[in-house]
Amino acid sequence: MHKYRGQCRLVLKPASTDEVSRILRYCNDEMLAVVPQGGNTGLVGGSVPVFDEIVVNMSRMNKIHSFDDVGGCLVLDAGCILEVADQFVAERGYVFPLDLGAKGSCHVGGNVATNAGGLRFLRYGSLHGSVLGMEVVLPDGTVLDDMCTLRKNNTGYDLKQLFIGAEGTIGIITKLSVLCPQRSPAVNVAFLGLSSYQKAQQAFREAKAHLSEILSAFELMDAKSQQLVRAVRKEKHPLDDEHPFYCLIETSGSNGEHDYAKLEAFLESVMSNDVVSDGIVAQDASQIKSLWTWRESVPECIGHWGGVYKYDVSIPLSDMYTIVDDVKARLTEAGLLGETDEYPVLGAVGYGHMGDSNLHLNVAVRRYDKKVEQALEPFVYEWIEKRKGSISAEHGLGLAKKNFIKYSRNDTTVGLMKQIKHLYDPALGGGLPQNGIMNPYKYI
Ligand code: FAD
Ligand code: MLT
Ligand code: ZN
Repeated sequence: MHKYRGQCRLVLKPASTDEVSRILRYCNDEMLAVVPQGGNTGLVGGSVPVFDEIVVNMSRMNKIHSFDDVGGCLVLDAGCILEVADQFVAERGYVFPLDLGAKGSCHVGGNVATNAGGLRFLRYGSLHGSVLGMEVVLPDGTVLDDMCTLRKNNTGYDLKQLFIGAEGTIGIITKLSVLCPQRSPAVNVAFLGLSSYQKAQQAFREAKAHLSEILSAFELMDAKSQQLVRAVRKEKHPLDDEHPFYCLIETSGSNGEHDYAKLEAFLESVMSNDVVSDGIVAQDASQIKSLWTWRESVPECIGHWGGVYKYDVSIPLSDMYTIVDDVKARLTEAGLLGETDEYPVLGAVGYGHMGDSNLHLNVAVRRYDKKVEQALEPFVYEWIEKRKGSISAEHGLGLAKKNFIKYSRNDTTVGLMKQIKHLYDPALGGGLPQNGIMNPYKYI
């Protein structure tokens, strides 16, 4: 995004939990700030050293330790790349319960630290459910071994949950056990064109009704997002005509014929009721991959012209896309959005995980400009607050959203969060030494 530039004089690459523990103990004693770093693909600047922090990069801790091919529990190091972990379980008939566009670079530890949502959240749910156990090194070097491989374990507070989504502010995750579901042998993908957001909502309702347990993804893309992907990739779009909205629907099940029949019944219903204007169903694995590309490459292509202001929001579905229209109107009125180079903004784009009420509002710019930022903020955050939405549905707070937490969380909640941070990573204050070594300047 050309947005964050870090400063750092030292990067450490530990190869074992013991090394992580010794690093943190030393840094805590010497009051040296530390930034845990996974694949460095996070979108809110969480892995960037802001002033002079020591980067602890987890890439050498990348072993897969064990896999239970009856129960589906995978035990692996935090520095394993998501795609590598998924390939490992795929060979054994299972799937990693998370998938996202950055899978080739991001680490499973980074995924858990950000509580990443991704493309199949609709089917497999949150990492709060899939992570069964964790080993984590606390800021003073203590190793917390909670490497449970059980699904059920109601013996006291579930401490590992605190580290899921903590973005490296209370400890470094070193090892994980993750419950992997059975991989579905039959996968189908349909790519649909729709005339309005209202129709996209109808299509989602129909998809749930017709496809229920085999529905594994329901993604939304607006016309502008697809125009930008086409402009960068210079490839023919899967649908001949342009439509205001597109949905990518994936089904994953155990019986190809049965699933295809369900998908056909769904398509017949939405086509004959005029919910969907046009559509295509992938005929083989390579076409499935190619249809997914038109969704997965949206974030990368949007940044092509210079930069992007990113908002990752959750709003009740009925109102979800209105924010894109309102932002477009605001930027146009302010004389900031236009076709030619004199305008800093080239488009306000909406896409995302409609099945999870999670929209990515991205404002693509030719250059970063204070006037654009002032038009967007706090407007976007106030808009979301009014609808009781979330200002960060899946990307987290990091550096980018830290100052805006109040739009989604009340004072009592933020106060308790600060107490938790201080409990694990004390910043004593009152003239006493300030530790608070773990990923400072971020989160809360
Ligand atoms: P990093 O970026 O290195 O770090 C992220 C944060 O976690 C930082 O605060 C860091 O300090 C901390 N951290 C990293 N490793 C550890 C550890 N072992 N212990 C403690 N803290 C740690 N996100 C979604 O939720 N859904 C998506 O669909 C999605 N799609 C994406 C698509 C693209 C093309 C890109 C570039 C990003 C996407 N993301 C998405 C962002 C997503 O958060 C990250 O890709 C991923 O989860 C972060 O993993 P990472 O290993 O790169 O972590
Ligand atoms: C996505 O769903 O593609 C992502 O979360 C990435 C992004 O918004 O940039
Ligand atoms: Zn996303």
